[in-house]
Amino acid sequence: MQEPLVRIFDTTLRDGEQSPGVSFSLEEKVEIARQLERLGVDIIESGFPQASAGEAAGVAAICREVRTPVICGLARTRRGDIETAARALEGAARSRIHTFTSASRVHLEHMLRLSEAQNLEMAVEAVRLARTHTDDVEFSAQDVARADQDYLLELYTEAVRAGATTINIPDTVGYSTPVEFAGIVRRLREAAEAINPAVVISVHTHDDLGLAAANALAGVEVGAGQVECAVNGIGERAGNCPLEEVVMALITRQDHYGRRLNIRTTELYRTSQLVSKLSGMVVQPNKAIVGAHAFAHEAGIHQDGVLKERTTYEIMRPQDVGVPESRLVLGKHSGRHALRERLLALGYHLADTEFERAFGRFKELADKKRGITDADLAAIVQSEVVAAAPEVCRLDYFHVLSGTTVLPTATARVTVGDVSRQESATGGGPVDALYLAIDRAVGQEFRLLDYSLRAVTGDRDALGEVTVRLRDAAGRSSIALGTSTDVIEASARAYMAAVNKLLSLPEGSAAPEASVPAGERQV
Ligand code: KIV
Ligand code: ZN
Repeated sequence: MQEPLVRIFDTTLRDGEQSPGVSFSLEEKVEIARQLERLGVDIIESGFPQASAGEAAGVAAICREVRTPVICGLARTRRGDIETAARALEGAARSRIHTFTSASRVHLEHMLRLSEAQNLEMAVEAVRLARTHTDDVEFSAQDVARADQDYLLELYTEAVRAGATTINIPDTVGYSTPVEFAGIVRRLREAAEAINPAVVISVHTHDDLGLAAANALAGVEVGAGQVECAVNGIGERAGNCPLEEVVMALITRQDHYGRRLNIRTTELYRTSQLVSKLSGMVVQPNKAIVGAHAFAHEAGIHQDGVLKERTTYEIMRPQDVGVPESRLVLGKHSGRHALRERLLALGYHLADTEFERAFGRFKELADKKRGITDADLAAIVQSEVVAAAPEVCRLDYFHVLSGTTVLPTATARVTVGDVSRQESATGGGPVDALYLAIDRAVGQEFRLLDYSLRAVTGDRDALGEVTVRLRDAAGRSSIALGTSTDVIEASARAYMAAVNKLLSLPEGSAAPEASVPAGERQV
């Protein structure tokens, strides 16, 4: 007999996008959804269509482009939300409406301003209405761990009676502990299955106390058949349950959990890298499963052990999660054929124009760096090909002067259409001076919200990868990356890519954060 399935419900594009400063464009959402499909997730929560027209368009685009997983749209327990979600999901091969409210008194009194009875009535109405649009309806009540447990039971059992086919149990503020959370899940599961034995129990955990994965796994141990999670654990505050952690725990400890998944684990690393690049949220080196050090052995005793027998210190193999081997693969004499083959082996199926851009960048890099590793290739392709913005303005050249005895000074020439402008500026450091010079040449001021730099590999001639987050005068923000062996050039590339993203937004488009009234977007 087959083990029971745990469905992976990915919410990177909805809850994950609620990470401070993260906002995916429509193309980026589709790109991530396609990768999630390759990864084999069962359900993709593609957005909250009522939030804005752009959000609804993103959900509709994913429905058109991604056909294997169920595509889910979020809706409050309001008629308008449910109807908007249903419209956005119309083109899906399989769709789900996820309607949610809150369960705790603090949410009901201060945020929703509803009595328990009003809230219950709205929840039942919402589930019934959602069922008129699709047979697949999920119901959630936020903040289960701080809720009155008798009210919680009543709310969930009424939602199942009204036709909810999945009940999701969210520890919205990451307050619960594994044993306590398992108790809540067990009680709700027993009551729900008494009404509908086919109902799926789902867990949705947040990481405020660092317990998101532990709590989700505790839920699985008492019968949850769905885990809601986000790639790299991105999301509100400390984030959501990290998809890669819960997946590898269930697989590596299959002997303990006795569950089955539909996930292709060899796609985990690539998915993590894509989400990191497009969200601008760097993966910490010691992050479980996908961090740069997750499979690195430093101590002599550990290295000795692993060389003698890998399993002495490794419970998973890097290739199981798709970590590329860091061997030297290509150099400046390698041609198009070799590059195409290597990119295909790394899982990049590029269109001809994208491939030509990748080849151009590869040749530039090969002139400066002796051996190009798989990690280098992944960095240039992800940041400058897959996530590239249309080039509204071009940086023709720049010069930077810096050192211990000079005032950092930069000159940059930028071309917009057929107009070129050269400007100079001084700043607190070379990057500051350069960004000021670029702003002057572009003729607009951008606010630098975030800047980070990392070395892609460990060598002295390593590729530097810069991530920047910018805001324009209209309050719209963008994130972009740039890579080069010269960190000032990487900084310039990242800045220009972020500027181009902002300049290619439709005229007058609102700041993503401003499109939903405060308190309504943060669900
Ligand atoms: O954390 C939460 O409670 C949520 C719900 C919308 C499920 O994200
Ligand atoms: Zn959440």
